[in-house]
Amino acid sequence: MPKVFITRRIFPEAKDKLTEAGIDYESNDTGEILTKRQLIENARHKDGLLCLLNDEIDDGLLSSCPNLGIVANISVGYDNVNLSAANQHGVMITNTPGVLTETTADLSFGLLLAAARRIPEADSFVRTQDWTGWELMQPQQGVDVHGKTLGIVGMGRIGSAVARRGHHGFDMKIIYHSRSRKPKIEEELGAQYVDLEELLRGSDFVSLHVPLTDETEGMISREEFRLMKKSAILVNVARGPIVDEDELVWALTEGEICGAALDVFEEEPEVHPDLKNLTENVVLAPHIGSASKETRMRMAEMAVDNTIAGLKGEKPPNLINPEVFG
Ligand code: NAP
Ligand code: GLV
Repeated sequence: MPKVFITRRIFPEAKDKLTEAGIDYESNDTGEILTKRQLIENARHKDGLLCLLNDEIDDGLLSSCPNLGIVANISVGYDNVNLSAANQHGVMITNTPGVLTETTADLSFGLLLAAARRIPEADSFVRTQDWTGWELMQPQQGVDVHGKTLGIVGMGRIGSAVARRGHHGFDMKIIYHSRSRKPKIEEELGAQYVDLEELLRGSDFVSLHVPLTDETEGMISREEFRLMKKSAILVNVARGPIVDEDELVWALTEGEICGAALDVFEEEPEVHPDLKNLTENVVLAPHIGSASKETRMRMAEMAVDNTIAGLKGEKPPNLINPEVFG
């Protein structure tokens, strides 16, 4: 009977699916992230690993777990995995694309709106201050979203879902920068392809949707903030290290940009203390892009389906490194 280790709490229904498929499992149900040593101890004699985006799957782990045939990440991003090490060890890596696209785009747009209209600050004001009633010169005046220019960096699944919301819901002009041009999106949304510099200069809202790779790490730093409009708002629902956080703090405090809405951080779960102190122009969320009950359930089931296929010797539906299959 193949054996799987599940690195964190997942839905019982997803575990039941493993049992029905004749797969034995052990799981870490403490809610705590395991240390590298604990992860290796638990995975050492297993055939499969079901893990989260904050479990580091590196050469050390793969070398110590020679039976591992598959690592199923319960996330679309897989920057936690050393792919070349996985290829060397012949380990299949899978992710959960598509199923979380709309949910993550909802959150991206929600954060954009929250930052533009200062919703968290307004909420806190009603709860904690002596609100004296409607007035024209209310302190929580934000900026309009409708009719503005939305710059999408990374026009993939989530980037295009955010662009659709901006175009159809808020009559926004869409400009984008991506690795390759997207003629269908250009036709559907009237979106215009531009280089990164033009996007940064022209956008009222810059929304990041690229994966974290060697090329995108630090993509948005001091030089990029200098190019942005002073009225611009940055939204990052991609990965923290794509933005240099020290430089973001600089840009926000020096007025180089107007605001930021962040679901992801450079050193999660640590958050730059200065970002926490910027309560008027920064909105923060604890990496909840895909966190609706329906979507998190689908992600778990998708990862389980990938695991079952891989352990049966079939090609998993969401195999990232097909070169190791067969
Ligand atoms: P995707 O469909 O692969 O989209 C990524 C896009 O980025 C693609 O269009 C790709 O271009 C483009 N790209 C890649 N490298 C680039 C570069 N160096 N310069 C410019 N463009 C580049 O992925 P997705 O499903 O939309 O997910 C995107 C990312 O969102 C994930 O990797 C993950 O890190 C993050 N995410 C976060 C949450 C959250 O909870 N906050 C939830 C889900 C996902 P091509 O089309 O030409 O390849
Ligand atoms: C979440 O961040 C994901 O990559 O699915």
